[in-house]
Amino acid sequence: MLELLYKRRSVRKFLSRDIEAEVVDKLLTGMLLSPSGRGKRPWEFIVIDDRDTIGRLSEAKEHGSAFLKGAPLAVVVLGNPEESDTWIEDTSIASAYALLMAESLGLSACWIQIRGREYSPGVLSDRYIKNLLTIPDTLAVESIIALGYPDENPAARTHESLPFEKIHRNKY
Ligand SMILES: Cc1cc2nc3c(=O)[nH]c(=O)nc-3n(C[C@H](O)[C@H](O)[C@H](O)COP(=O)(O)O)c2cc1C
Repeated sequence: MLELLYKRRSVRKFLSRDIEAEVVDKLLTGMLLSPSGRGKRPWEFIVIDDRDTIGRLSEAKEHGSAFLKGAPLAVVVLGNPEESDTWIEDTSIASAYALLMAESLGLSACWIQIRGREYSPGVLSDRYIKNLLTIPDTLAVESIIALGYPDENPAARTHESLPFEKIHRNKY
């Protein structure tokens, strides 16, 4: 596990190669295994491999989503605030599981933040994506996970680079 965590880095450049259906199934299974407050599972996922739709999703915000255009797969992570007051935590954990599953499957990934972000001044990215994908208003878009086989290779983290000073023992 620790080896995988050292190696996992955000990748924003992908090969055009499609991801095999059985690999996508494993990725999604991992996400469905993520823990949630009181076991409510207040999330839903939209799996998108249609290149045209991915292209339009890449325009969901002004900065930080354009690279999605080159990804063969996107998973839109939705939460239901009416189902649980821990929906932000729960969708975040599911998103993190997607990043880790991707690494374990030989894929690479990057989180694209959507909650609280704007498509254009005064228009939320959440609204833009809901219109694009016909998502009910009762749901909220937390993130998009961009996925694919990597076409860049950021260096694994080293033990020396970790901020151990952030760890406090017994008191702050
Ligand atoms: C909550 C969260 C939101 C993020 N949002 C974006 C984003 O919108 N666009 C982007 O390119 N990267 C985004 N990232 C990726 C971070 O920039 C990246 O994880 C960070 O720079 C550390 O690099 P690493 O993932 O390679 O360790 C996000 C990551 C997290 C955890």
